[in-house]
Amino acid sequence: MLSRSAPRLCLAAALAVGLAACSGGEPSGDTPVADQAAPPVIKERQDNFEAIGGAFKAMRGELEKDAPDFALIAAKATDINARAGKIANHFPVGTGVDDGYDTEALAAIWQKPEEFKAAAGKLADESAKLASLAGGADKAAVAAQAMAMGGACKGCHDQFRLDDEKK
Ligand code: HEC
Repeated sequence: MLSRSAPRLCLAAALAVGLAACSGGEPSGDTPVADQAAPPVIKERQDNFEAIGGAFKAMRGELEKDAPDFALIAAKATDINARAGKIANHFPVGTGVDDGYDTEALAAIWQKPEEFKAAAGKLADESAKLASLAGGADKAAVAAQAMAMGGACKGCHDQFRLDDEKK
């Protein structure tokens, strides 16, 4: 009797895991990652950083002028602030450079998730400070805060972004 029920159990188990368990066939999930389409979130986050980089560049350009457009600097800082808020959600597990994708996201992001979150939080804080300072139109103070915000970029990149030159 036991020998008759065994195949049934096996079938039930196979159904539960997607029919592969008892067939001795291909185990699922071993398709090389490089053959899979990259998750869209990778491009999304790279576009977000691209825009952050563009906004930062624009404000530094303003700060090189004798009479910077402080409203523009405030707007760019506000944009960076909104984009900083998206960073933490742009890094689902399995989307790093070690997973075979075309990305500069290091495994450290998932090994030290709290630190990564804090680094994104720092950019949010520094950009918020910059946005409110820009209203005061004090060029030296605004430039100093822009530098501080740049430190938040570097602080995260040093730890969590692959440095192309070290490849
Ligand atoms: C919390 C961490 C973090 C902060 C803060 C951060 N970055 Fe990044 N940045 C990354 C990571 C990680 C990547 C790699 C993303 C990828 O390739 O998937 C990246 C990529 C980039 C890129 C390349 C985007 C592309 O096209 O692939 C630029 C440009 C950039 N960052 C600029 C900045 C600037 C400017 C700041 C500050 C104003 C900043 N980042 C702040 C983590 C951060």
